[in-house]
Amino acid sequence: MTFEDIVRHVGTVPHMPPDRGKLIYEFIRTIRPEAVLELGFAHGTSSCYIAAAMEANGKGKLLTIDHKRALDREPNISALLEKTGLDSFVEARFCERSYTWELLKLLEAHTREGRTEPAFEFVFIDGGHTWDSDGFSFLLADRLLKPNGWILFDDVLWTPSMMEGEAWVREMPEEERDVAHVEKILSLLVIPDGKYHNMEFDGTWAWVQKKGDQTSLEDRSDLVKKMYAHTKSSRSAYLFRRYLKRLFRLS
Ligand SMILES: C[S@@+](CC[C@H](N)C(=O)[O-])C[C@H]1O[C@@H](n2cnc3c(N)ncnc32)[C@H](O)[C@@H]1O
Repeated sequence: MTFEDIVRHVGTVPHMPPDRGKLIYEFIRTIRPEAVLELGFAHGTSSCYIAAAMEANGKGKLLTIDHKRALDREPNISALLEKTGLDSFVEARFCERSYTWELLKLLEAHTREGRTEPAFEFVFIDGGHTWDSDGFSFLLADRLLKPNGWILFDDVLWTPSMMEGEAWVREMPEEERDVAHVEKILSLLVIPDGKYHNMEFDGTWAWVQKKGDQTSLEDRSDLVKKMYAHTKSSRSAYLFRRYLKRLFRLS
């Protein structure tokens, strides 16, 4: 399915606008993954961009996980997949409480004799955006990510205080409300880990690539950098990136 075709189906559905959909679509077209994991699908818009690119590739499977409440969304992911005819490229899992528990099941399924076999070439983390859920999710997803695979974090600068009308934010200790939790995950878990490089940050999304080994997938380390070079916002993205790299003391 072309990008224009999928925009016609989901271009007005929250939460992924077409300019973001284009980036993720092109990314999937380029890396041509066998297996992708998405944490947080809401209506399934981002899932549809990923699946449309997989259909154009002629291969790939997206495993995407959200809370069972996502079934009540209008439209919900099942309706979008049926409408687009992309069902065969997506397995949508509706969990009882959290995708962190589903990640336990995935680790169980991929662990034999004390060794976990990584399964995914790309993980998109776009769920709770909090230290507890997504910090832990990163650590778990890392075990399932193949060498040279990529992780994309959404809403890097989002803070809970942006939703202070919400009861769960009011219940939060004050010192946690004004913190960009995903930025903390990047600066305290991802970067010091040492296994990740080629970070690209555009003001909202941060991409990181797991370093490779001799038996790993093709490297393609400049892939995301090149992708941004073609977007209109590449200059501002570059300036933001430079700022963040200075902040994280990356060269
Ligand atoms: C921003 S929306 C996802 C948007 C979607 N990726 C897109 O771009 O179209 C975040 C979703 O994450 C889900 N979510 C947040 N924390 C979760 C958790 N711990 N377990 C399962 N789902 C979670 C919410 O239910 C919500 O639907």
